[in-house]
Amino acid sequence: MSKDAAAGGFVPPIYPYFRLDALKQRATAAPGGIVDLSVGTPNDAVPAIVVKALADAGEGAAGYPRAIGGPALRGAAAGWMERAFGVTVDPAHVVNVIGTKELVASLPHLLRLRDPSRDTVLYPAVSYPTYAMGAELAGCRAVPVPLRDDWHLDLSAVSGDDAARALLLWLNEPGNPTGSQSAPGPMAEAVGWAQAHGVIVASDECYVEFNWDDAGDHVPGATALAAGVDGVLAVHSLSKRSNMAGYRCGFLAGDGDLVAYIASVRTHAGMMVPGPVQAAATVAWSDDAHVAVQRARYAERRSYARSRLADAGLVDAGGPSSFYLWARSADSSEDGWAVTARLAGSGTLVAAGDLYGEGGAGYVRIALVEPLERLQLAFDRMSVVDPSMTPIGGT
Ligand SMILES: Cc1ncc(COP(=O)(O)O)c(C=O)c1O
Repeated sequence: MSKDAAAGGFVPPIYPYFRLDALKQRATAAPGGIVDLSVGTPNDAVPAIVVKALADAGEGAAGYPRAIGGPALRGAAAGWMERAFGVTVDPAHVVNVIGTKELVASLPHLLRLRDPSRDTVLYPAVSYPTYAMGAELAGCRAVPVPLRDDWHLDLSAVSGDDAARALLLWLNEPGNPTGSQSAPGPMAEAVGWAQAHGVIVASDECYVEFNWDDAGDHVPGATALAAGVDGVLAVHSLSKRSNMAGYRCGFLAGDGDLVAYIASVRTHAGMMVPGPVQAAATVAWSDDAHVAVQRARYAERRSYARSRLADAGLVDAGGPSSFYLWARSADSSEDGWAVTARLAGSGTLVAAGDLYGEGGAGYVRIALVEPLERLQLAFDRMSVVDPSMTPIGGT
């Protein structure tokens, strides 16, 4: 049988990061090897208390875990929401997910099963690509919402027709890739808009522990659940917060009816977080000390990388939060792919901005996932002018 889709069937596009493969090879061949700042995967250690909890759980984890997650894990997630945001969440209104990517990809499908009358998913125009892909996989219309200069959503630009058809609005603050800051004002504005239009809000808050202001000071991030619960879901992950991307564990919390529906369908579908991972995740959500250590690492890298951007012919064009820098060339004729190719030639791989939507084409995203000494190497190499690139007659 042909592996191609039948006429009219869904044809998966190339996976966004695979578009970087040729430049990855170029960067790998550079003297000193690649410094890979393209993917937002943590490279710092998983906290020791988490590793121990995983190992200790092994023997007692013979049975099937519950799809929603065990009571200890849901209680730990609710406890963290209380500490982080001062928001009280009933642990019965928490559902665990196998990393949040699978939830982002599947949520439109689940919500469409519940309400087939609406067929549109709204998402930030420059954003994590899975928001649009999840809409497409559900057979929904994926409609990007333009961003303002401060990288928050411009909901005034949503047409009346799109608003009336909207099933779901995605929020993501702090934002990937833009670094927009998480703050109560924009969050409340978006929740208010969605509630007024009968649209469910899913707020992807996976970078919330890495929230800074323009001065580089840490400021507590906001959750959409502080602005309202009706029709609101908050989505959290341990991948970034606790360097546990390989463990695959996050949760969703909020509107009790929605959570119960989602939990029920996910139980039928067998979407279970493995028992030992649940034990490790319970320990991770219960501890904030390791997060403070990680936050300090990212703050230091962010400040260092910003101070070196000009050496690489780049300017910071993003917000102050997350562990990404959203940058563009100081030379307005050089687009995101041209910057990505230039930096790959010096041995550093970044992500061309159009992986996050057409509006990102002029930018690159630099993930600060490597230790400071690797960033130093990367920026030192970026600042060395390649003689072959020096125009004839140049100095
Ligand atoms: C905005 C955003 N949401 C969700 C995810 C998925 O994270 P995970 O599936 O590891 O929880 C990512 C990963 O990079 C992300 O950037």
